[in-house]
Amino acid sequence: MKSPNVLILILLATVGISAAFAETAQKAPSAAALNRTVSVTLPDSEQVFPPGAGAEIANSQCMICHSAGMVTRQPPLRFGEWKAEINKMRTAYGAPIPAEQVEELATYLTAIKGKQ
Ligand code: HEC
Repeated sequence: MKSPNVLILILLATVGISAAFAETAQKAPSAAALNRTVSVTLPDSEQVFPPGAGAEIANSQCMICHSAGMVTRQPPLRFGEWKAEINKMRTAYGAPIPAEQVEELATYLTAIKGKQ
């Protein structure tokens, strides 16, 4: 037969565990706290591409999926690299820009963000 000391230890442990659970339950946030309204201010982003020949193509085709800043904050590229970048958007990501607009857009992007 187990000694009374062991039984007392088991009893104390059970009481201790129950008390710990009760404390955890008290700390859980209430439904009202979870449903509260918060307000956040998102960082500013460039709204449109800078003016220039071809800007309207960029504004209509290049902001379907991301901001203008995603393009203008990249390192400068050569004309051919811009063409490759536009074609990557078309083939890898499914950008619907017509093939006949790629040259004009690459010329525009080289003008605003080109390198020699
Ligand atoms: C169909 C959606 C879509 C369209 C439309 C689109 N892009 Fe993107 N673009 C992406 C995705 C996805 C990424 C990668 C985002 C990331 O890595 O977080 C990206 C990233 C970029 C980058 C960053 C460098 C890189 O290769 O990841 C550049 C530059 C860029 N796009 C240029 C353009 C230009 C110019 C146009 C207009 C012709 C355009 N994008 C239109 C989807 C698109």
